[in-house]
Amino acid sequence: MNELLRKIQEKQATVGIIGLGYVGLPLLIRFGEAGFPLMGFDVDSAKINALLHGKSYIRHIPIEPIQRFLDAGQLDVTISFEKLREADCIIICVPTPLTDKMEPDLRFIESTTKTIAKHLRPGQLVVLESTTYPGTTEELMLPELEKTGLRVGKDFFLAFSPEREDPGNPNYHTGNIPKVVGGVTPPCLECAKALYAHAVTRVVPVSSTRVAELTKLLENIYRSVNIALVNELKVLALRMGIDIWEVIEAASTKPFGFTPFYPGPGLGGHCIPIDPFYLSWKAREYDFATRFIQLAGEVNVSMPYYVLERIMEALNEQGKCLKGSKILVLGVAYKKDIDDDRESPSYAIMELLEKRGALIHYNDPHIPKLKPGRKHAFQLESTELTEETLGAMDAVVILTDHSAYDYPWIVKHATLVIDTRNATKNVQEGREKIVKA
Ligand SMILES: NC(=O)c1ccc[n+]([C@@H]2O[C@H](COP(=O)([O-])OP(=O)(O)OC[C@H]3O[C@@H](n4cnc5c(N)ncnc54)[C@H](O)[C@@H]3O)[C@@H](O)[C@H]2O)c1
Repeated sequence: MNELLRKIQEKQATVGIIGLGYVGLPLLIRFGEAGFPLMGFDVDSAKINALLHGKSYIRHIPIEPIQRFLDAGQLDVTISFEKLREADCIIICVPTPLTDKMEPDLRFIESTTKTIAKHLRPGQLVVLESTTYPGTTEELMLPELEKTGLRVGKDFFLAFSPEREDPGNPNYHTGNIPKVVGGVTPPCLECAKALYAHAVTRVVPVSSTRVAELTKLLENIYRSVNIALVNELKVLALRMGIDIWEVIEAASTKPFGFTPFYPGPGLGGHCIPIDPFYLSWKAREYDFATRFIQLAGEVNVSMPYYVLERIMEALNEQGKCLKGSKILVLGVAYKKDIDDDRESPSYAIMELLEKRGALIHYNDPHIPKLKPGRKHAFQLESTELTEETLGAMDAVVILTDHSAYDYPWIVKHATLVIDTRNATKNVQEGREKIVKA
């Protein structure tokens, strides 16, 4: 351990990051900026080639620092996992999705652990960052790594440290978000703490990997439950003729005991719609039903149906039916100003509309093309926003409130605007054309 700690202290420890996506890539940059020698691993050779050719595949992540590290010989990016032996600290940032049956899909962690085990050598630190249920590090990874004959806490070190990335947030980034760290043994914690202390402003040590794993889930369940709460209240408030956004704004003036959450067209992104179900699944082992998680899931999943209903009602008011209506969806990214459309509720809404005969167009300044995949079958190009296209639509539906949109101009030229994000709150002219949903 002393040798590893010395290397970390002197920034001579090579940091190898497995999985160069939304989480792994910023982390790689952070450790590079902190002055560590780096290795980046991914199974996707297209991503490795893009990096080697000076191209970032995630819009909000700049390529310049990576280019700089590559040019300076500080970074090696590769699909050759035998090079894992050269890394002193290995950080895992691979996906943790759900299966079609809403159960944890741990294939990526399992295969990565097997690969690490193949190349594990004494003196290495392995840290899992992927979001997962309590017990993953010690029940799934540890036995596999110890099959090598190496012992945790003596020969190698194992820890869990959840990622708290908030893509697109201008105030918080990998470097200034406090990092929770739990180790399998005290020496494991010590090594992981020493490493992250170089990369983040504050390390928050906890007593075990399970505490660290559940901390991340608590954070995301808290969001999911509170978003479900305001979504439910939005539907009620509308029925009562009350503007929920005005209510939230007023409640937010309370200086204590209230944190505002905002309603929307449904949940999106790689984390909030997925992570809570990792805990529900694990809870079954303990004969425990996680009712809040289940209920929040039900409410949030029902939101696209609510938006559909509001669109149909609004068209009906104009003497039109949904079938054959031209609908322009604004925003397929799951939140504003990013190019990530994973689990986006926009697709659920577009599919519901299309199934009922609507003619779908979309615009997203951050996502120029839609490719059909596991989650949707749309093969469309982003429609250019002009006065003519807006005017030609039966309804324009705001699903993501990107900052690039000129809302007064959109309302001016559209005949009907369904606003699921309160994006038009400051629009004065043409308010009679706006329907909140
Ligand atoms: N995106 C976020 O904002 C965010 C925030 C907090 C936590 N997380 C969690 O972080 C983890 C990673 O998420 P992400 O958004 O970065 O995912 P991502 O899909 O953007 O990136 C994962 C990368 O891992 C690669 N990969 C898959 N299997 C691999 C393997 N066996 N070996 C090497 N590379 C492999 C993929 O090719 C991809 O490049 C997930 O557990 C997620 O829940 C994500």
